[in-house]
Amino acid sequence: MYTLAEIDKIVSNGICALDLKGEPEELYRPIEYTMSIGGKRIRPRLALLACSLFSDEIDASQVYPALGLEIFHSFTLIHDDIMDRADLRRGQLTVYKKWNENIAILSGDVMSIQAYEYVSKAPSDKLRAVLEIFSDTARKVCEGQQYDMNYETMPVVTMDDYIMMIGLKTSALIAGAARMGAVLGGADAKSAEALYQYGYDLGLAFQITDDYLDTFGDPAVFGKNIGGDIMNNKKTWLYIEAARLAVGEQKARFEQIFRMGEDRAAEKIAAAQQLFTELGVKDNAEKAIEHYFHRAMETVEGLSLGTQKLSLLEEFATQITYRRK
Ligand code: IPE
Ligand code: IPE
Ligand code: MG
Ligand code: MG
Ligand code: MG
Repeated sequence: MYTLAEIDKIVSNGICALDLKGEPEELYRPIEYTMSIGGKRIRPRLALLACSLFSDEIDASQVYPALGLEIFHSFTLIHDDIMDRADLRRGQLTVYKKWNENIAILSGDVMSIQAYEYVSKAPSDKLRAVLEIFSDTARKVCEGQQYDMNYETMPVVTMDDYIMMIGLKTSALIAGAARMGAVLGGADAKSAEALYQYGYDLGLAFQITDDYLDTFGDPAVFGKNIGGDIMNNKKTWLYIEAARLAVGEQKARFEQIFRMGEDRAAEKIAAAQQLFTELGVKDNAEKAIEHYFHRAMETVEGLSLGTQKLSLLEEFATQITYRRK
């Protein structure tokens, strides 16, 4: 068995050793840039954690597919930043800001292919299953991203709609990483399914935390601009909960805030933060995050993994749920 620190080391060494270079350099430089500025790398870490629960040794044929997931994830961020008009990512300029939109689109496209190349390095007896997991996951992320964009201009989005949307744009990849790792490690179908569910619920907690930090995070730590979701009228967990709770004067204020445009950015963000706090949305978000965290743990507690492996899963879940960046 590996510790989380050992798994982190395998992932960071693996990313450093990736060969993603090529020509023309306009196409490949943004890829190196994106991959080298870091990120939490939770998807390959979860894949290798899941793998290590069932396999005593981790080898290159298991590490490469996990790294493919990180390349895929980083590609989705490059395109997401164009869609969300975001300037900052991982504390640095976003690719479309540093270069331009066409470069961001095309570099992202190449990364999605590089991701397939790395995922395809899975051992031949597992290749078909691994590719099926990956394709299913990748398609779901795109579906979720389209719902996310549709919701920006939809007047009414319910919490069920929201959970469905983040289940696709965020949970599917985290759940897929857990399932892929389990399969690579030789898990039985029941365990692989439980790890998928664990990843899925952690993904929900993760995205609600992301929404929370986008509004209430520390800009020096978060690595993205605070208030981007508010400016885009994103139907985040906070927005939907506020829409549910606001009545009377607060309802009127809510509507007025989300009619403000770019010219009143600072005012809009401050007013939304104030209203969300007044309505108790902050505290409710924390409860929702806890709820999905516990549901994730309950699923894996149902397997007979033993206390050591369970505590690794708990340590990982705690790290990624109760985070500040
Ligand atoms: C950002 O993902 C997109 C979401 C699903 C919230 P991460 O928060 O994992 O981003 P990095 O990879 O650590 O930068
Ligand atoms: C998740 O949503 C992004 C993807 C699934 C690619 P966000 O748009 O909230 O992610 P951030 O906040 O930009 O990282
Ligand atoms: Mg987005
Ligand atoms: Mg975004
Ligand atoms: Mg976000």
